[in-house]
Amino acid sequence: MCANSEQRRERTPLARSRELQERAAAVIPYASQTGSKRLAQFVQGISPSHIERAAGARLWDPDGNEYIDCNASLGPIILGHNHPAVRAAVSDQLEDGTVFTMEHPLQVGVAEAVTEMVPCAEMVKYAKNGNDVTTLAAKLARASTGRNVIATQGYHGWTDTWTCANQRIAAGIPDKLAAYTKPFEYNDIESVEEIFANHPDDVAAILTNPVNNEPPEDGFLEDLRDLAHDHGALLVFDEVLTGFQAAPGGAQERFDVIPDLACFAKAMANGYPFSALAGRREVMRHMEADDFSYSMTNAGEAASLAAAAATLEILREEPVHDHIREHGRRLREGYNDLAAEHGLETMTEASGFDERFSIGFDVAESDGPVRSLFMQAAHSRGVLFTGSHMPTYSHTDVDIDRTLAVYDDCLNEVKTALDAGDVADRPRGDPIGSTLRQRWEEPA
Ligand SMILES: Cc1ncc(COP(=O)(O)O)c(C=O)c1O
Repeated sequence: MCANSEQRRERTPLARSRELQERAAAVIPYASQTGSKRLAQFVQGISPSHIERAAGARLWDPDGNEYIDCNASLGPIILGHNHPAVRAAVSDQLEDGTVFTMEHPLQVGVAEAVTEMVPCAEMVKYAKNGNDVTTLAAKLARASTGRNVIATQGYHGWTDTWTCANQRIAAGIPDKLAAYTKPFEYNDIESVEEIFANHPDDVAAILTNPVNNEPPEDGFLEDLRDLAHDHGALLVFDEVLTGFQAAPGGAQERFDVIPDLACFAKAMANGYPFSALAGRREVMRHMEADDFSYSMTNAGEAASLAAAAATLEILREEPVHDHIREHGRRLREGYNDLAAEHGLETMTEASGFDERFSIGFDVAESDGPVRSLFMQAAHSRGVLFTGSHMPTYSHTDVDIDRTLAVYDDCLNEVKTALDAGDVADRPRGDPIGSTLRQRWEEPA
């Protein structure tokens, strides 16, 4: 084991990262725009604070250090960074402009492509972020049913609709809103039934991630659908993460349960800001009601539409999903084999799906020190480990082999530290703090 350190590249000290980090802290709250990119997510001083450019499965920090990507930039980069066909489509569109007084023709073809790929999609409406369309879905469900309560599970964004239900992050939201967003437990149908029982004739929708890190138990998604429909409510899938990724038609295709509405973002435009709400015509048409409001200046912006058109075409015509599953399977199984070789299989596991899995550490008090040590070892060897793994269409066998070789070294460092009993002393920078998602409270 650990025979691979010789492949370790000389690393340039992170001087520019540090300088940018200090300047950012002075002018940008949290020095970051995204919860999962905050400095506290990483080992400060060891992890780069910024990424300057990327191509395929590789990224470079501002000091010129190269990394293998692991999590597709939190999901969008399904084809790999700066994919040539997407770049060409966007460049061509830039020659012609981006936002106009009337809609651009591309918006029609992209909507048609979505309706052809996604089982529930009869009509499609655009936005820019996952937040936009999950919030729009909740509003449309309430408007179209004339009811108030959304039964929900999982992360759907930062807007009042979602964070009102979590006291720890509900600052700035009127208290009364919490009465209308009710969390349940994934794979626990009784916790959903309870919401229906407590709010007779007032549940507008069950809005859930179709899968989390674990798959749905047999019949769970079907039960959600039947429960919603039996009570006159809608089933809405948040496919911001799984859309076009779990299968060309998303998790609804993969698990063969068709919701009334579904929310899409990340993978649909390979890194350009674009999202969509799709669903049954009858429900989507409620957006045309005189008293319903939804509008966004940049929703039909043409460069992102061009990116979406090119991305969807590749997703339909090339073996993208076979590729990401096969490479993900090799990485996931390879990691678990390495953990067993190091005698650490009860402490760490790569779990989830082949195309999307997490490496976790099961440590008695807190996984922070072990995770920090593992991350430090990975980042200093050129693998941009964050825990979450989503291989891209650009990952090659060489990328997977190299990542596994680095993970072998990381596990060796963890094992040595555990044996010596000094894990917490080994991270050379500030260890990882808590994430926005980890701070999401358990349902009351
Ligand atoms: C399942 C899910 N829903 C919604 C969102 C919010 O999307 P965005 O950050 O694009 O607004 C995310 C973001 O990570 C997500 O994972």
